[in-house]
Amino acid sequence: MFSIKSQVESGCLTYVPPKYVFDKSSSNCISSEAETIPTIDVSLLTFGTPDQRSKVIQDIGNACRDWGFFMIINHGVPETLRDEMLKGCQSFFNLTEEEKKEFSGKQLFDPISYGTSFNTNIDTSFFWRDYLKVWVHPNFRAPHKPAGFSETVREFSKRSREVASELVRGISESLGLEERYIEETYDLEVGSQLLVVNLYPPCPEPEVAIGLPPHTDHGILTLLMQNELSGLQVMHNGTWVPVNDPPPNSFLVNMGDHMEILTNGKYKSVVHRAVVNNKETRISLGTAYGPPLDTVVSPAPELVDCESCGSAYRGIKYRDYLVLQKTNHLDSKSCLDRVRI
Ligand code: OGA
Ligand code: NI
Repeated sequence: MFSIKSQVESGCLTYVPPKYVFDKSSSNCISSEAETIPTIDVSLLTFGTPDQRSKVIQDIGNACRDWGFFMIINHGVPETLRDEMLKGCQSFFNLTEEEKKEFSGKQLFDPISYGTSFNTNIDTSFFWRDYLKVWVHPNFRAPHKPAGFSETVREFSKRSREVASELVRGISESLGLEERYIEETYDLEVGSQLLVVNLYPPCPEPEVAIGLPPHTDHGILTLLMQNELSGLQVMHNGTWVPVNDPPPNSFLVNMGDHMEILTNGKYKSVVHRAVVNNKETRISLGTAYGPPLDTVVSPAPELVDCESCGSAYRGIKYRDYLVLQKTNHLDSKSCLDRVRI
């Protein structure tokens, strides 16, 4: 399957080919209000006074409930490392198609997979996006090309993992649970970490195509960063809120489907999408944190409010959930719906 990058660079695409036309008509209402996603200073979790710490935990809880998305600043990952990571990703995609072919995984759980769209076997329309997915934990893997990339991925993965762990502890407390409750109950320390790099080349008719259709992310939470171009939109109160101009050196955090399951729906995995532009290539880099593949995630009994209401989701192995998501169309909520009771 041809990457969209190589098709765009061939210079022949003056319009969006029919295969890439995506019908946005069912929900395309862009928020007209100047709404912004909350920003949280996560250094206060570690270095704040007890009062500052409890205020931040409260803010995290509110952001999780109201938005399912928030931005974090002062997270401790050096800006130089982020820049190096973005550059490394760009260099990876700049390898020739022949070189990248070596990394085109065939199976869902292959440690490295390079490809285009989402699942070209079942996608009814293709997405204006090439991707690289790498499982970086519990076993670290990374492409051996371009030179130095693997070391950067290793360092970035380690540092961002520390941020995610700190956040999960704050989130656990925001739910009234012990700080370590979530990480211990779902074995997150030995859990999975999947790096997903998205490359969205410029598109001649950005209104007609889509980078990633409306979807939710699997896993406990995702950390996302991007180059200087925006394109992410988050569903909030029935409209799309564009995430423009995030603070410098920030990450965007969003709750994944397994956070929704384990909190019994208290924190929702929110629908988002990526639109494309006609100017320059946008790169975004998401890291999904989840439990080990064979861990069954079901609602924490402490968060099932009363006997009679019961659990709102059935337990499912993380691995089985990933299979379910990959074999369904990305742009449907069917995956979470299938574990809802
Ligand atoms: C994703 C995703 C958004 C973006 O990779 O799951 O939602 O802005 N990416 O690229
Ligand atoms: Ni996503």
